Amino acid sequence: MCGIVAYVGARPALPLLVEGLRRLEYRGYDSAGLAIAEGGTLAVHKRKGKVRELESTLPAQVPGSVGVAHTRWATHGEPSDLNAHPHTDAAGRIGVVHNGIIENAAELRRRLEGEGVVFRSQTDTEVLAHLIGRRPESSLVEAVCAALALVKGAYGLAVIDADRPGAIIAARNGGPVVIGVGDDEMFVASDAVALMGHARSVAHLDDGEVAEVRADGFTVMTLEGAETFKALQALEGDAGGLDKGDFSHFMRKEIAEQPEAVRRTLLGRLDHRFQTAHLGGIELAAREMLDIRRVKILGCGSAFYAGVVGAHLIEQLARIPAQAEPAAEFRYRNPVVEQDTLYVAVSQSGETFDTLAAIQEVKRKGGRVLGVINAIGSTIARECGRGVYLHAGPEVAVVSTKTFTSTVVAFCLLALQLGRVRDLSSAHGQRLLAGLSLLPDQIQSIVDREAELAPIAARLAASEHAYFLGRTVSHAIAMEGALKLKEISYLHAEAYAASELKHGPLALITPHTPVLIVAPDDDLLAKNRSTIAEVRTRQGPVLAVTQDGVDLEDVEASFAVPRCEPELAPLLLNIPLQLLAYQVASALGRDIDQPRNLAKSVTVE
Ligand code: AGP
Repeated sequence: MCGIVAYVGARPALPLLVEGLRRLEYRGYDSAGLAIAEGGTLAVHKRKGKVRELESTLPAQVPGSVGVAHTRWATHGEPSDLNAHPHTDAAGRIGVVHNGIIENAAELRRRLEGEGVVFRSQTDTEVLAHLIGRRPESSLVEAVCAALALVKGAYGLAVIDADRPGAIIAARNGGPVVIGVGDDEMFVASDAVALMGHARSVAHLDDGEVAEVRADGFTVMTLEGAETFKALQALEGDAGGLDKGDFSHFMRKEIAEQPEAVRRTLLGRLDHRFQTAHLGGIELAAREMLDIRRVKILGCGSAFYAGVVGAHLIEQLARIPAQAEPAAEFRYRNPVVEQDTLYVAVSQSGETFDTLAAIQEVKRKGGRVLGVINAIGSTIARECGRGVYLHAGPEVAVVSTKTFTSTVVAFCLLALQLGRVRDLSSAHGQRLLAGLSLLPDQIQSIVDREAELAPIAARLAASEHAYFLGRTVSHAIAMEGALKLKEISYLHAEAYAASELKHGPLALITPHTPVLIVAPDDDLLAKNRSTIAEVRTRQGPVLAVTQDGVDLEDVEASFAVPRCEPELAPLLLNIPLQLLAYQVASALGRDIDQPRNLAKSVTVE
């Protein structure tokens, strides 16, 4: 959460910082600000609201070629002009942007106030600016290290000083920080997407490291002053992917990108010779795969729901007991970590704090963890060290769409590979490979029929409450569909296992509570028909997402996805639910890409 970007070089800093902020806005959009050092002064501009509000108040030019900028997701202090970053010391010469939480900020604040410091904001970050400003005689990096030695908590930060304008000091403890290397210019950011098209390569800071970043290079050291070596990685990716193009929202663009995202997730991983999948990054030999007795999948939000689908696939195809659990719940219950369990961490961003902490808990107890991750080189990818990259491309909208789909595809591949070293027949393997190859075109055909969803969307948009039902793996799709709808439409959408309806939720059903049932053509279709009848008996309107060839009676509106291999049905059934959430949120005029209170990457606890 919170985006930071900083620049030092020969070009005017202002346009580069503003462009970086626009690209990082998905991380938080309560307020935005920047500070640029020039001629011994620090020009600070900050504003409550989105980056465009800041832009509307900026002068056409702000001289200076070194600066820091920030887009905020508020933790300490309400969103306001004063609480926006950067924060400065009393003299207004040190500029600090910070992502994270200083846990002992109240105590440090009291101490500084006792020394006569007057605070201007309610933020924890301002404490850092004053602490750094107390050491004008030291080098900036020494002053930052001395301040950080007093601080408890999580941070990714960038600091500049109007009196020492040749460098940015960056530091990391729990908040991602990447250094970007350009031609005679350098960058710092909380996500490499801010640097695409500008930096050629990047280096990732690790926790406990501080960097002095100058136009001609950078030095990294530990907080204690021991120099560390950083390998550079080429910065790949197309800055064009960060543009909405002709689409009105990133979410709609990313829904449309799913056929291509799935192709990329599958690329080079289908082994037709042995009717299996080949995921080289998991680094598991056949014998090690045979030794796996259990699979535990950890993630948050949509990543968790994709993990629920993944667990189902692994159980069905590989016959290994598998279960998904919200990462934060796992880490707080002192879990038993078993040697023969394969732990799989799922994260689009690769930065989610709760997922990272769960991985660290597993590793601390001697377990092994694979990552299923979209963001290359992200903290979780590096913490796991092995796993599967989705290659879905950057996802900018706060809600996950294409990365949910690609994650489930990655789990299909993992389940197939684990299954084929066990009892899954070559014929079954071959069927799945054929089914996976058809997915991109099938997804495209659903997206092309978006208009057919209008009656379902209209019914949902006219209601305050909606219930999503499904059985077994379709329950996971119902949960994901309900999450998507609530995130961007702000309607109350609740998912239940259809089998649980009569054990309580049925009491909520009225003519004003539409029930959307996810009903594929599987062994449980007859049971879903009974559920529909139960809802209709209570005058509840029923909407359905089903498969071609299924005829559901007494349903107000339905949408059918193409038939496919049964294991792949959840992937197709989910696409209409994404489009429905989008249509409902559009009809209600919501801020679809940046819904209230949320941020794309949840890097705080
Ligand atoms: C999805 O629409 C949500 N915005 C959210 O639940 C998200 O999936 C979750 O925060 C996990 O994010 P991650 O995949 O980046 O770890």
